[in-house]
Amino acid sequence: MLEDLESVLISQRRIARRTRELGEEITTFYGAGEITVISIINGALLFTADLIRRIRIPLRMDCIRVASYGNDTRPEGEPEVIYNVDLEVENRRLLIIDDILDTGRTLFMISQVFHRMNPKSLHTCVLLDKKDRREIPFEADFVGFAIPDKFVVGYGLDFAGRYRNLPSIGTLKPELQNPPEWA
Ligand code: IMP
Ligand code: MG
Repeated sequence: MLEDLESVLISQRRIARRTRELGEEITTFYGAGEITVISIINGALLFTADLIRRIRIPLRMDCIRVASYGNDTRPEGEPEVIYNVDLEVENRRLLIIDDILDTGRTLFMISQVFHRMNPKSLHTCVLLDKKDRREIPFEADFVGFAIPDKFVVGYGLDFAGRYRNLPSIGTLKPELQNPPEWA
């Protein structure tokens, strides 16, 4: 799998170090009391699993599934909530976690959905931020790494469902981004 990468953008070690720092930042930010973590799966699965173990306050966690990408490297239309949370969110402190902030559509839409449920507060955390790609003005409260406008895979991020299990994050070789047998 590693041989499918054009280059490694962020190593396993850097991801681990930054995740630890983010856990500290989030712990300090919220102080005492419980928070409710909403993870946008599948992409944020690995990041969420590692990050919540670095947050040293009580929390509850649930997942939400959103579809906006097909088998392409560009978004197709508006994101859609496929599976919603079971947890009580009213009057709770919500932290929404995603893998990557790209056009901004997903987190903007999800934030709107949760705002309507009257949480006590709502913040967002992403591992990666592609600032140059924004189509909707939206910034996350906690950001792991700002990255250039390149399609990346690994550590939860996929291309057509593959490469999520790569421990580092890298750019896929261009010739592998649309192989005919996956169409
Ligand atoms: P946005 O709605 O355009 O901000 O896109 C966010 C979603 O697009 C993320 O949750 C990812 O699933 C997906 N995405 C955006 N860029 C990449 C990438 O470079 N690799 C893999 N998935 C990506
Ligand atoms: Mg995703």
